[in-house]
Amino acid sequence: MAEEQYFYYKDKSKKIIPDPDKNKHFLAKKILDEIFMTQKDLIPSIYKENWNRVKLYQPAGIVEKAQAILLNINDGAYDLRNKINNLTGKEWTKFTCSWFIFNALQSDLQEERAVTKETQAHPATFSPTMISDFINFFTKEGDIVLDPFAGIGSTLVACKRNNRVGYGIELNKKYFDIILQRTPEFKNNIFNEDCRNIDKLNLPLINYSISSPPYWNVLNRSTDGFKKEREEKGLDINYSDQAADLGNIDDYDVFLQEVCSVYFKLYDLLADGAYITIIVKNIKKGGKMYPLAWDIARILGQKYVLKDEKIWIQDKISLSPYGYPNSWASNILHHYCLILRKE
Ligand SMILES: C[S@@+](CC[C@H](N)C(=O)[O-])C[C@H]1O[C@@H](n2cnc3c(N)ncnc32)[C@H](O)[C@@H]1O
Repeated sequence: MAEEQYFYYKDKSKKIIPDPDKNKHFLAKKILDEIFMTQKDLIPSIYKENWNRVKLYQPAGIVEKAQAILLNINDGAYDLRNKINNLTGKEWTKFTCSWFIFNALQSDLQEERAVTKETQAHPATFSPTMISDFINFFTKEGDIVLDPFAGIGSTLVACKRNNRVGYGIELNKKYFDIILQRTPEFKNNIFNEDCRNIDKLNLPLINYSISSPPYWNVLNRSTDGFKKEREEKGLDINYSDQAADLGNIDDYDVFLQEVCSVYFKLYDLLADGAYITIIVKNIKKGGKMYPLAWDIARILGQKYVLKDEKIWIQDKISLSPYGYPNSWASNILHHYCLILRKE
């Protein structure tokens, strides 16, 4: 029977393979046992649960310097010093691309439909699968994640799927009830509230926040097929008629100020070094662009450090002939995922 191999390195062709030196495997096994005894809290559960299959990894083949472990070689190695998440270097690098294409997944819609009975209960929801990618990058298992504009709870569903603790605030009682149905395990963490009161909810220290505020009052102004189709089906065409709904503020500057006030208050609830992601779009009104995403980034940059943008592209939405045959008007099919940090 072949001897167990516990030590892997990267060969000249950059392939991860077992080290040919048998002695290194013996030493690696000892180091792995020690890691399991002394650093158990640092090991993500997927490795802990499969510890008998875990290998030690050091790219140059220096076993004494190894700081990383391998489970499935194709997924890459997990560095035990990883401060932010439970990802391997390969998974980490994949997420760092500044853009991604994502269209709603049928599996997510089916999960949503099972609770809401109609797939379009809310006019602007996200796929928990897309939110999961962010949560998996910016948190570790067990971390606390807050969505102050929770909608019907895609962030909380993503938390449930990935073993994070979800918190959410949503103004509309109908959507709030859907979140409760989708994630009953977080029932004590979900608030049917105006998120401008975020500082009064006795929230715990937050490790990460991902959210998408109303895109100003676009839903109230929509005149396109989307609105007509939803109206005909008796579906919501905006989030609510409540004055506290930020999507009902018509003045652009007032809207900006109110949205940013929520994120400024959130700052004080975040753990040091925590990231937040805000998914938002630039908006057009009356033939003019209002750079909502850029304005939010600029204003919040007064307190947070604006780290980056990641551009989300939807490529399955059909184009409308806006402007034709008179003037330029684009179909905006990208959103900005703004990444800010409390530093
Ligand atoms: C873009 S949607 C978020 C959708 C959510 N990401 C999802 O996937 O279900 C914005 C949400 O903010 C909510 N909202 C608007 N004003 C609010 C306020 N003052 N406090 C809390 N929620 C508010 C709306 O009811 C709406 O559900």
